[in-house]
Amino acid sequence: MTTTQPERTLVLIKPDGVTRHLTGEVLRRIEAKGYTIVALEQRTVGTELLTEHYAEHQGKPFFAPLLEFMMSGPVVAAIAEGHGVIEGFRSLAGTTNPTSAAPGTIRGDLGRDWGTTVQQNLVHGSDSPESAEREIALWFPQG
Ligand code: PPS
Repeated sequence: MTTTQPERTLVLIKPDGVTRHLTGEVLRRIEAKGYTIVALEQRTVGTELLTEHYAEHQGKPFFAPLLEFMMSGPVVAAIAEGHGVIEGFRSLAGTTNPTSAAPGTIRGDLGRDWGTTVQQNLVHGSDSPESAEREIALWFPQG
């Protein structure tokens, strides 16, 4: 039997997830699904990195509040590896809005609307192989 190379994706646990002590729970769900965490780092981030990370959303009304939210506390950046992990992690995360995200997903089980204008939805996952490659290079430039 031949196998293909496993994929990698960038996972971010956003400041709401870190502050609410959900880092372990998010990583547990990734590992329980069978993916491997191959890099992990907690850090605070600045405007420059976030502007590049969210470049495609520049100009949207939520851009500035999103950056402010992402700088409001530490973020955990991880690289998860496994076949189909890009789609698999997004499926574990659930849809963007935590109020309507399906139960069983990270956002659906652990997130909600806190009455802030910024949507606090706990995690980010790369949305395509191209995004994953770009985002991993941005967050883990040391390789
Ligand atoms: S879009 O416009 O459909 O592409 O946007 P979407 O894919 O839903 O979201 C893109 C990222 O922006 C975040 N987002 C927000 N953050 C804070 N507040 C508000 N109101 C908001 N709306 C969208 C959303 O969580 C996505 O971020 P990531 O980090 O990729 O999850």
